[in-house]
Amino acid sequence: MKYSPLKELQISRIGLGAVQFGIDYGINNSTGQVSYEGILQILSFAHDKGVNFIDTSRYYGSSEENLGRALKELNLVDAFTVCTKLDLPKNYVELPEKALLQTASDCLEKSSEMLGLETLPVYLLHTYDYKKHLDGILWDFLVEKKQNGAIGHLGVSIANGPQEALESLEDPDVDVIQIPYNLFDHRWHKEGILEKAVEKGVAVFNRSTYLQGLLVMGKEKAAEKLPSAVPYLERLKGFVDKKGLSKKELIASYVFSEPSITSTVVGVDSLKQLKENIILYGSGLIEEDTRRSLESMFSDVPDSIVNPSLWDNKK
Ligand SMILES: NC(=O)c1ccc[n+]([C@@H]2O[C@H](COP(=O)([O-])OP(=O)(O)OC[C@H]3O[C@@H](n4cnc5c(N)ncnc54)[C@H](OP(=O)(O)O)[C@@H]3O)[C@@H](O)[C@H]2O)c1
Repeated sequence: MKYSPLKELQISRIGLGAVQFGIDYGINNSTGQVSYEGILQILSFAHDKGVNFIDTSRYYGSSEENLGRALKELNLVDAFTVCTKLDLPKNYVELPEKALLQTASDCLEKSSEMLGLETLPVYLLHTYDYKKHLDGILWDFLVEKKQNGAIGHLGVSIANGPQEALESLEDPDVDVIQIPYNLFDHRWHKEGILEKAVEKGVAVFNRSTYLQGLLVMGKEKAAEKLPSAVPYLERLKGFVDKKGLSKKELIASYVFSEPSITSTVVGVDSLKQLKENIILYGSGLIEEDTRRSLESMFSDVPDSIVNPSLWDNKK
């Protein structure tokens, strides 16, 4: 396993996405939420393979609760750097300042309690909108929490494209950004986000390697779930068939070959998928001409496909 720095921490190049530990997640999901027994197996195996980073959120159903319980049972609480997120109710903009700060404080404390961690190692705003609200009152509150030791490292999860990332990177209190990044999504390179993050010493986590499973979905199911993606999936199939490549290896190597990404958070529904992802992680770097071909072939994939929050059937 390779490791990259997040300030003083060393983070494994492959991280574990834990939304699947708390809800039935993903456009392609047929197995439902991972069982508690499954969580124990996944965490043990991940630890044995050197994975030391997990991404969760207060918003992912029972994810934090199951994760905290399982890490304690396995005696692995200190073996993982856990990242969780601030999630507020949908009507947060209507809350008066005092109630808003109390809600944020409750969210943070609940995460600490559920995860059994006095200091949350990495804490993100689940949406960039929180950062701008009321002149940054929530962000200032979290910066103070970091100074008091309740938070180790602070950052922002980006959903709506490079502008949010660019603005986040201007803030010296941002230690981390999380972005969706995969072979359909070239917005970050076009806007120089990854280079800028490296320049500023900000760690970059990526999600959406499989676009929730869409990238490995068969044509018929894709036509039912997200018909607008079918021409791009067909283009990808044509490319791998012509080049004699494995589609999954291509998807994984595109992401794992990007040196400015600190950790790729991959969500799994089973131990089998984790085992496969760890093998895929080691399958080698993408060739430069293949990378260039992908960048030109998929430069026109619209936001309505690369941003799952715009999908009609989102979960
Ligand atoms: N805004 C945010 O901060 C945010 C938003 C979303 C997710 N996340 C985080 O990112 C993590 C990953 O979520 P994501 O949306 O980015 O999903 P993803 O990693 O792109 O895709 C995960 C899905 O891909 C499929 N998969 C994984 N390994 C596979 C394999 N080897 N072969 C075939 N299919 C495989 C599984 O779905 P099927 O088995 O159902 O096909 C799995 O649920 C989450 O767990 C969460 O921690 C964060």
